[in-house]
Amino acid sequence: MKDILTDILISENIQGAGVDALGARFRVAFQPDLWKDPALLAEKVKQCRALIVRNQTPVTASLIDAAQELLVIGRAGVGLDNVDYKHAEKAGIVVSFTPDQNAISVAEIAIGMMLSLARFIPAADADTKKGNWNRQRFVGTELYGKTLGIVGAGKIGYLTARRAMAFGMKVLAYDPFLSRDNILLSEVQAELVELDELLARADVVSCHLPATTQTVGLLNRERFMSMKPGAFFINTSRGKVVVEQDLVEALKAGIVGGAALDVRSKEPPQVGELEAMPNVILLPHIAAFTNEAQDRVTAAICEDVARVLDGKPALNAVKRAMPMPRVTS
Ligand code: MLT
Repeated sequence: MKDILTDILISENIQGAGVDALGARFRVAFQPDLWKDPALLAEKVKQCRALIVRNQTPVTASLIDAAQELLVIGRAGVGLDNVDYKHAEKAGIVVSFTPDQNAISVAEIAIGMMLSLARFIPAADADTKKGNWNRQRFVGTELYGKTLGIVGAGKIGYLTARRAMAFGMKVLAYDPFLSRDNILLSEVQAELVELDELLARADVVSCHLPATTQTVGLLNRERFMSMKPGAFFINTSRGKVVVEQDLVEALKAGIVGGAALDVRSKEPPQVGELEAMPNVILLPHIAAFTNEAQDRVTAAICEDVARVLDGKPALNAVKRAMPMPRVTS
């Protein structure tokens, strides 16, 4: 083994008590802007045993191959689309993530987006701050009695549905991995349906999908055009599941009555037609950004990275929980 100068490399802005605790036991290099420089990242990663990232560091197969001392990759968050975890698995590296830690925050913002769309909250705020008092212009709709369609009924979808129940909404769910007798679905009295049926019946469609080969581009022209006319569309999951130009067309046609997007197909996005639409709410991928969620995410990922460096199994491994010796031939 080479002389290791750094135990843990943090290539994005991940801070908090968990990182401080790691710093007391390991040599930690905190380089929050390193993700912007892939060549320097590839150089630095050669010397470390652990790499902690959020969603901006591309952890590619070639980066993994360059990191011959690496034992564990910690993804501070739930989405794994920036980590080639299958390649890491083959290379014997543990990939740990934090599947449940930010779910409440994401579910809460999905509800916030629903209310914002239904009651024009951002638009009415901006208009009133201009000195106007336009009460008739902002006549909204109630959520009570409306139908929410959850596309992807994992933890975040379930928590969103639970909160929607408190508003008196009926819940439809589409998730090819769940069966009708799923206990969480029955808890929120959700009807499990096919995607086409959900889109045709829901007044609000809320997307909670990972970006995979099956889901990228799933929300396309045909699917938007088959939505219940005037329905709202919300995405707090991954931008790539939506074909943005197709959403623009459906908004222009009035089929989609309003959209709220926390995530974009390219981040940061280029300013385009969505930015100019009054019935569109855009956020900079902040659904998981609450103090509580970030404290939990950081604590959980730091604990798992420390466990692996201490020779213990990871608690939240994507696949393998213990590293394997690297094959270098
Ligand atoms: C997640 O995947 O955990 C959230 O989208 C936030 C993030 O990407 O870090």
